Amino acid sequence: MSYKDQIDLTKVPQHVAIIMDGNGRWAQQKGEERVFGHINGVDSVRESLTAAGEIGVKYLTLYAFSTENWNRPKQEVDALMDLLVKTIASEVDKLNENSVKLQAIGDTGNLPESCQEALAGAIENTKNNTRVTLNLALSYSSKWEMTKAIQEIANQVKVKNILPSEINEELISSYLSTGNIPDPELLIRTSGETRISNFMLWQLAYAELYFTETLWPEFKKENFFEAILNYQNRERRFGKTSEQISENE
Ligand code: IPE
Ligand code: IPE
Ligand code: MG
Repeated sequence: MSYKDQIDLTKVPQHVAIIMDGNGRWAQQKGEERVFGHINGVDSVRESLTAAGEIGVKYLTLYAFSTENWNRPKQEVDALMDLLVKTIASEVDKLNENSVKLQAIGDTGNLPESCQEALAGAIENTKNNTRVTLNLALSYSSKWEMTKAIQEIANQVKVKNILPSEINEELISSYLSTGNIPDPELLIRTSGETRISNFMLWQLAYAELYFTETLWPEFKKENFFEAILNYQNRERRFGKTSEQISENE
């Protein structure tokens, strides 16, 4: 039986986040430039997005470019930005066909003008789609996001729109760039690295973490389904005991 056939469609996570890692190593293993890996990684984005839609995942967040990735060689950064513009432009029709709504989180004002324009155009163009929300993390880092949220909350407190006693978890969540979407239940990271790399630290507080050795350009639909199945076989206890969980089932 395929992994997909084993998935319980009534227990699919609403929100899956992915740290797409290993493009450079994949290319280098093939004797190619790192950029070749990024280009091939686009196909894995399509695969994961299709897989998510097929089983009813409502939100897919992909870590595409971190704040720290600005420190890579200029040639690689430029190639990634170029790829981003071209991919967004060429995929918009397909996003609409599949009712995918595009969103972005991150310090996107830092992206080159052409990227910002392509992104804004595609977000506008797909805003009425309802099947899956594809949330791209671009020039994103969790510490950047939290710093910005704290500054905004502090400003609201200063002008007395918020009392310090009103600052609670819900309010903090609403000031993050993911304010309008639920926290991910599942985080996938490819390429064998077992770290979070400044990604959604607040939102991942109780996510299940799934690490696979597969490099991102080789991560296809079946790999996505395998991760979902692995998630479904875990017991999410949220601090309770195993007995309490089985009593409530
Ligand atoms: C992930 O692959 C893509 C980005 C971070 C943009 P990497 O480029 O990090 O590939 P490795 O980890 O060097 O193999
Ligand atoms: C994390 O990958 C960022 C993205 C996938 C966009 P990196 O390859 O940049 O992470 P580190 O530096 O190895 O932790
Ligand atoms: Mg990497």
